[in-house]
Amino acid sequence: MSSATLADSAGAQFPTPGAVPDVLVRQHNTVVYRIDGAAQDYSRNCQGCHGHLGYSVEEIPVLKDRVGYFTRTPAGRAYLVRVPNVAQAHLSDERLARLLNWMLATYSPAQLPRDFVPYTAEEVNRLRREHPPSVVQLRKQVVEELLARGAIPDAAVLSFAGE
Ligand code: HEC
Repeated sequence: MSSATLADSAGAQFPTPGAVPDVLVRQHNTVVYRIDGAAQDYSRNCQGCHGHLGYSVEEIPVLKDRVGYFTRTPAGRAYLVRVPNVAQAHLSDERLARLLNWMLATYSPAQLPRDFVPYTAEEVNRLRREHPPSVVQLRKQVVEELLARGAIPDAAVLSFAGE
C-alpha cells in the first residue's frame, strides 16, 4: 500500500446517495446509501458484532471512542491486527490495512496519537501471521502497558464484559 493515507480511508465514511431505479424506493421516497471500499468491507465482515456505529453487542469490546487508544504503543498497534477476527478476516492485506485505518478514523479519531501512521499492507501481512496463544491474555498485557506508560487515563476506558 504505502500511498493510501488515513485521510483517504476516512473519506469512505461518508456514503454517497445512490440513484436506485427501484419503484418501491421511489414510491416511499427512501434514500438509499451506497457504501463501498473499506466501509463495505466493515459492514460485511465486522458490523454483525461491532455495529454500524462501533457500539458492539454485549460482551464484545466497543470500538467507538476507544479502539484508537491501542495505537499508542507498538504492542497495542500490533494487537489490533492480531485479534483473531481481524487477522483471519477474508480480506487481502491491502484491504485489511485500509479497513483498520478506516475503522480508526471513523470510530476513534480522537484517541489516535497525533503522529499516528496508517497501517500498511506489509505491516498487516507480518502481524496477522502471529497467532497469540491467548488473545485475552495478550489484551490484558497490552492494556497494562498502556496504563503503565500513562497512555490511557485508567483501565476502565478499555474494560469490557467479555474479559
Ligand atoms: C463474531 C463476532 C466478531 C466479528 C465478526 C468481529 N469481531 Fe472484532 N472482536 C470480537 C471479540 C469477541 C473481540 C474481543 C477479543 C477476542 O476475544 O477475540 C473483538 C475484538 C476486536 C478488536 C479489539 C478491540 C478491543 O478492545 O480489544 C478490534 C479492533 C476488532 N475486534 C475489530 C474487528 C474487525 C475490524 C472485524 C472485521 C474484520 C471484526 N472485529 C469482526 C468479535 C468479533
